[in-house]
Amino acid sequence: MAKGEPQRREQAWTPLPNRTESNTKMKLTRNGKIILSTVMMVIVAITIGLIVYFVAFGSTPFYYHISFKVNNIDYNSKFEKPYSQEYMDLNKKVVSLVNFYESKLTHQHLKNKIIFLFLFYSQLKGKVIVHAVLKFKSCYKNNAAKFWDRIETILRQKLEGKTGSLCVDPSTFKFSDIEMPVAENLLNTCCGQRTITPSGNKIAGGTDAEEGEWPWQASLQQDKVHRCGATLISNSWLVTAAHCFVRAKDPKQWNVSFGLLLSDPQMQRSVKDIIIHENYHYPEHNNDIAVVHLSSPILYTSNIRRACLPEATYIFPSNSDVVVTGWGTLKSDGTSPNILQKGLVKIIDNKTCNNKEVYDGVVTPGMLCAGFLEGQVDACQGDSGGPLVSADSKGIWFLAGIVSWGDECALPNKPGVYTRVTFYRDWITSKTGL
Ligand code: ARG
Repeated sequence: MAKGEPQRREQAWTPLPNRTESNTKMKLTRNGKIILSTVMMVIVAITIGLIVYFVAFGSTPFYYHISFKVNNIDYNSKFEKPYSQEYMDLNKKVVSLVNFYESKLTHQHLKNKIIFLFLFYSQLKGKVIVHAVLKFKSCYKNNAAKFWDRIETILRQKLEGKTGSLCVDPSTFKFSDIEMPVAENLLNTCCGQRTITPSGNKIAGGTDAEEGEWPWQASLQQDKVHRCGATLISNSWLVTAAHCFVRAKDPKQWNVSFGLLLSDPQMQRSVKDIIIHENYHYPEHNNDIAVVHLSSPILYTSNIRRACLPEATYIFPSNSDVVVTGWGTLKSDGTSPNILQKGLVKIIDNKTCNNKEVYDGVVTPGMLCAGFLEGQVDACQGDSGGPLVSADSKGIWFLAGIVSWGDECALPNKPGVYTRVTFYRDWITSKTGL
């Protein structure tokens, strides 16, 4: 332990009245030692720094796309719907084929390197084509080719070996590397999922969101100024509120931006088309819904993804937790934030919301109320068009509402009123095909 050390040091540095030469030498030697140990420490620090640098940055992930035809499975359009039973069942069968984790082959070095696997399906002459995108960790540039060869050999072995109930057609194997943005786009196409698990909760009465927490949130901007929120529902469509376009309907005036900060967008797009519900008549609040078609599709990233749309028959139970997000004002007539805000609210059934002291009968079946009768947390001006989302039991986020109106913000007995997405689900399909 360190106990004895201070004494020794004291001795060495005590000035002696008759200092001999050997004493001076010893002092120099000790000084030398200090210098030497400092130099050693610097060398060790530089070495550690270099190791950390090479581990973290010297190697980059790389991506691999494998596809093959399965002769004994007829194509079903449900295979293209993630979360459908058909998709899940097929996934189970395919995963064991292309996943190194379940490999009987002992390629330990490869097992540790695969970090993500994504499957999707397409069709060829009525049969299924399986596509697997694999993401591999750390591949040093100089031995990438070798690594590549090894992966291809193992996969071929697996696909030509026992393939369970799947009848794989070896003549259709395709192996190729794909560029990072294209691969990340594929890996992030799933709806309602995010890569981060955020801390705490907190619009009016809300708190700052984190990057990637609400990846479907977009800002609708008119001549570069944030006007409304919107929700990404595919790579080229957003859903928002019809009232956002009361003053400006020309797509050329509008832009869409993505990312946590208004001042530093991660992606931007111009708008090709704005489709407003044909029965929306300002200043009424009924049918307050519109869809926006982007001029070119976005590439999904871990921070830009779509929300899931619920089926028309889905019921979001009253009193369940939902989250509203947006860059709207922090209170009625207040200032607007640069960083996206989130607020946890609860669904209030239409009957309660139509009580005399609440909205006294003006809430129609196409609307949904959320907030608290005691007030405190609510959407506010500038949040309009933005998402109200709800997580299902698996943590997948579905779009329940679109910020529409309210009596000021966060007042007692005046919860937020949203466009009920399930009510307009078929309308959304009729306009976007989604
Ligand atoms: N109409 C407002 C807008 O254009 C949104 C109002 C939401 N109000 C509320 N209290 N929830 O941004």
